[in-house]
Amino acid sequence: MSQPQAIIFDLDGVLTDTSEYHYQAWKHLADDEGITLTHEENDEHLRGVGRRESLMYIIRGHQYSENQIQEMMERKNRYYHALIERMTPKEVVPGGVALLEEIKSAGIKVAIASASKNCRLVLDRLQLTSYFDGIADGNCVVNGKPAPDIFVYAAGLVNVFTPNCIGVEDADAGIQAIKAAGMKAVAIGPASRFHGPDKVLPNMENKHLKDLLVE
Ligand code: G6P
Ligand code: MG
Repeated sequence: MSQPQAIIFDLDGVLTDTSEYHYQAWKHLADDEGITLTHEENDEHLRGVGRRESLMYIIRGHQYSENQIQEMMERKNRYYHALIERMTPKEVVPGGVALLEEIKSAGIKVAIASASKNCRLVLDRLQLTSYFDGIADGNCVVNGKPAPDIFVYAAGLVNVFTPNCIGVEDADAGIQAIKAAGMKAVAIGPASRFHGPDKVLPNMENKHLKDLLVE
């Protein structure tokens, strides 16, 4: 692929550091319940993972009813909301806006593939919504990452075949989803976190369209 027709970004941990807010909200809930949860566990088991799957990891080995599970998911979401409600456009990652502008002016479609049901709220707080030609969020598909569905759905929103797309992710589950969708995968973060991306970048700072391109 010389030039992709679409670049599809994950949101949390790629365009903004909301993965830290997800962790803080889960940590608050885990503390309420007297369960330990570390940053390392978050990175290894929760990064990019859906709300219910994340809770199932945290409460593994404990007995809870479905009603209690529902209540805990709602409580975590309240803690998360309290954090994101204060977000401002300053919380877009360094280099993020310049990169989106460069991609758009090259005539390439840009879309979001996020597992989060709070995706649109975060994009609004960051004043990023208008940059995207398509937004696929946690309300769009049933099977979460590493299933390819959310990336395939996002490609459909911008009407581009998946082999002509590049996906950008900070979670290994997301890299697996991108590869399963038949796209090229660019990983953001330490190389040790990922299995089989086409390219790894430490972050988006001073990155240009050419840095995302994959042979
Ligand atoms: C993203 C985040 C995860 C989060 C998931 C669901 O994938 O990386 O940390 O658990 O979305 O988010 P939600 O806001 O719907 O609970
Ligand atoms: Mg992410």
